[in-house]
Amino acid sequence: MENKMKALVTGGAGFIGSNVVKYLLNKKWEVRVIDNLSTGYKCNLDEMNVDFIEGDICNAEITMEACKAIDVVFHLAASVGRQKSLENPIRDSNINLLGTVNVLEGMRKHAVKRIVYSSSAAIFGELITPSIDESHPQNADSPYGVSKLAAEKMILAYSGIYDITGICLRYFNIYGVNQRYDTYGNVIPIFTNCIYSHKPMTIYGDGEQTRDFINVKDIARANYLAAITNKGTDVYNLGSGSSITINKLANMMQAISKINVEIKYAPIRPADVKHCKAQINKIRNGFGFEPLVGLDEGLSEYTDWFEKNCMK
Ligand SMILES: NC(=O)c1ccc[n+]([C@@H]2O[C@H](COP(=O)([O-])OP(=O)(O)OC[C@H]3O[C@@H](n4cnc5c(N)ncnc54)[C@H](O)[C@@H]3O)[C@@H](O)[C@H]2O)c1
Repeated sequence: MENKMKALVTGGAGFIGSNVVKYLLNKKWEVRVIDNLSTGYKCNLDEMNVDFIEGDICNAEITMEACKAIDVVFHLAASVGRQKSLENPIRDSNINLLGTVNVLEGMRKHAVKRIVYSSSAAIFGELITPSIDESHPQNADSPYGVSKLAAEKMILAYSGIYDITGICLRYFNIYGVNQRYDTYGNVIPIFTNCIYSHKPMTIYGDGEQTRDFINVKDIARANYLAAITNKGTDVYNLGSGSSITINKLANMMQAISKINVEIKYAPIRPADVKHCKAQINKIRNGFGFEPLVGLDEGLSEYTDWFEKNCMK
């Protein structure tokens, strides 16, 4: 009988990580998770057969042990977001950069040959073209952007020195099941929360700015494809490759939930760019990734999930 592939998913109890775990289990992989539950939820892994380590990737010993007998590391554990990193830049760098070094050292010790890293479009800083390919200048303008970029560079360096293949996926805006509303949240959970609480939605600027939204199921599949591709170490932008205005998104969400709320307009925020869309030719040609979940379908599933799980 063929040996099962064994994955370590760091941050596997989080929004994206739990979707990656689910995808891998469906593919009959064995999965170990390391997560300190700082922003993740154990219930995201309910009824999933995983070897769960409640631990911190800043702890070198535990992280090293977690890498034992693993074929592929999916590295998602991080302190996530610009605002959080401004509030606590030291914590951000400790987790996002030094935590990544702990993971790489664990891989080196236990001869784990592949890492799929959840990077971020935040590494680019201010966006200067509306459609962003991998060669867009990397001028990260927050501690978060810098720590995600530094971790990417560290993975590329380890891949050059040791027998490790590093695939870095730079995510744009992600939404989907297991994404909870919080004060640092993204626009889709914020709007969904407004809808189900019957509160006004606030749109910054005229609402004609565009954004690229990709469903977390597509992200999970991209992680899997990155783990099985025969391509070598590289970086890939990962979004849906299409975009929608915030006005259209707000209308679409109200139509899907069949609840209308007031829309308020507030002054545009300084860091907001007008248009943002990932160019996904490289990942498409590289390992045949194609986004499959349409925004309509993804939002329907998400709003249902949100109403059932977040509005109790
Ligand atoms: N959500 C997005 O739109 C988005 C966009 C770009 C990149 N990303 C990246 O994707 C990854 C996952 O993000 P998410 O949105 O699922 O966030 P999340 O906060 O839901 O998941 C992060 C997980 O990591 C865990 N974690 C945090 N610090 C840890 C530590 N020190 N040790 C062990 N576990 C720790 C948390 O408990 C949580 O389960 C992150 O690396 C993030 O930078 C997310």
